[in-house]
Amino acid sequence: MDRDSPPTHDHDTVLVVDFGAQYAQLIARRVRELHVFSEIVPHRITADEVTARNPSAIILSGGPASVNIEGTPRLDPAIYDLGIPVFGICYGAQLIAMQLGGTVGRGMAGEYGRAHLTRTAESSVLHADIPSEHDVWMSHFDAITEAPPGFRATASTKDAPVAVLEHDERRIWGVQFHPEVVHSPHGMAVLRTFLHDLAGCSPDWRMSSVIDEQVASIRARVGDQRAICALSGGVDSSVAAALVHRAIGHQLTCIYVDTGLMRKGESDQIVETYGRNMQLELIHVDAGDRYFEALAGVSEPEAKRKIIGEQFIRIFEEHTGGLTDATFLVQGTLYPDLIESGGADGTADVIKSHHNVGGLPEDMTLELIEPLRDLFKDEVRALGSELGLPDEMVWRQPFPGPGLGVRIIGEVTPEKVATLQEADAIVREEIAWAGLEREIWQAFAVLPDIRSVGVMGDERTYGHPIIIRAVTSDDAMTADWARLPYDLLEKMSQRIINEVPGINRVAYDVTSKPPGTIEWE
Ligand code: XMP
Repeated sequence: MDRDSPPTHDHDTVLVVDFGAQYAQLIARRVRELHVFSEIVPHRITADEVTARNPSAIILSGGPASVNIEGTPRLDPAIYDLGIPVFGICYGAQLIAMQLGGTVGRGMAGEYGRAHLTRTAESSVLHADIPSEHDVWMSHFDAITEAPPGFRATASTKDAPVAVLEHDERRIWGVQFHPEVVHSPHGMAVLRTFLHDLAGCSPDWRMSSVIDEQVASIRARVGDQRAICALSGGVDSSVAAALVHRAIGHQLTCIYVDTGLMRKGESDQIVETYGRNMQLELIHVDAGDRYFEALAGVSEPEAKRKIIGEQFIRIFEEHTGGLTDATFLVQGTLYPDLIESGGADGTADVIKSHHNVGGLPEDMTLELIEPLRDLFKDEVRALGSELGLPDEMVWRQPFPGPGLGVRIIGEVTPEKVATLQEADAIVREEIAWAGLEREIWQAFAVLPDIRSVGVMGDERTYGHPIIIRAVTSDDAMTADWARLPYDLLEKMSQRIINEVPGINRVAYDVTSKPPGTIEWE
């Protein structure tokens, strides 16, 4: 499959050079919050490659390494001579100091967390509205001890003698602290000064301009041809479909495969939102029976996943068979799916192709339309709202392609799915009523393949337990079990046992990831 190229637009672009860890992503998002488009690039980028991208400014990110150790990431020094404004943050500032002839001391005291910054000279970075003394967030062990020739040191902290360095003529600036984190109260003001005043970027990048530009570019690309999209009900495919629909209307056909393993009420909601409200061309395939038949007697997790994936591909092919004239496949690939942390050897290139729907045929000869490939998750949600999608859709939790199939331990049967749907709906309802929906990454119920003895009224019961799983996370790579209030857990437990037949016990999963995974299978 061919990838489409990133959309062309005439906004100023800032390149955020990635020196590892997660710093670059946060910086890139902050730049966009200041209405300037940003892209993350690997630290191996050369001056020629930078020139080819024609950025309006460059930000060098922080990173976990020490500039004083040989073999740690460097910037192509020719980039400093391109005349493009450069702003270094933490490791990035230390690189500027080291590569342009200053000194970075090693084995210093280091500073982690809040530090008190004092402006020591007139500064372009710390403009007059910022108090001359204020707190900043630090995370460094080495520190710049001497600014390079021609640079001015304009602020310091207790253990960072050169906390800000500036060269207005060369248009290179650097800060030891982290302006991108919320714990630096004037951090956004510093970034704004750099972007808008020092680098002269126009703050004209908006979510609404993304819609206009994408609509225009998709229309131009698709012409009078047809596109198809597999809707999963998840945020990404939903927003991608809504955007492409806005561009080409009935030339887009969406296929929604109802596996019978969806959450309670989910299929109705999808058909309601897309079919009736948006008038989107929707093929709704009610395939539950087929899935249950294929899954009968299967209890091994990988075997279950494989069957569910294969069924999906077969059904998708069957129902797109009549659409032989389709040229394009719409996918909800996001920016974080395409970048990997630069790390020490920095390969922030395209590294994985992402299938929201759990794998489509390898030999499919469709061209990809990925209208969200420049966006972060929170931006996709904002875009969804701008496109008029309801909150329940835009703020939906991540839901695995194999659905409740991986939350029923052991064999999957229609009865178990019905039981789990009821319990899961109670968990999600209670989370919503407690106002915790946006704090919790995922909250759901799991139905294990065991039974235990209980007593209800005067009767002995022998029923299944439900396990509640609720986690907080930023990206699902790591997660922590959510510290839900006891009262909330009690309410969930009481309701599940009273309202869901066959359940006589509720347990709460207190495992973080790692070592656990978020899902149970
Ligand atoms: P784990 O269980 O690996 O899950 O910690 C990480 C995140 O991925 C989701 N997940 C899936 N999403 N297809 C998907 O589209 C899948 O097969 C799948 N398995 C897990 C999971 O819900 C969590 O958000």
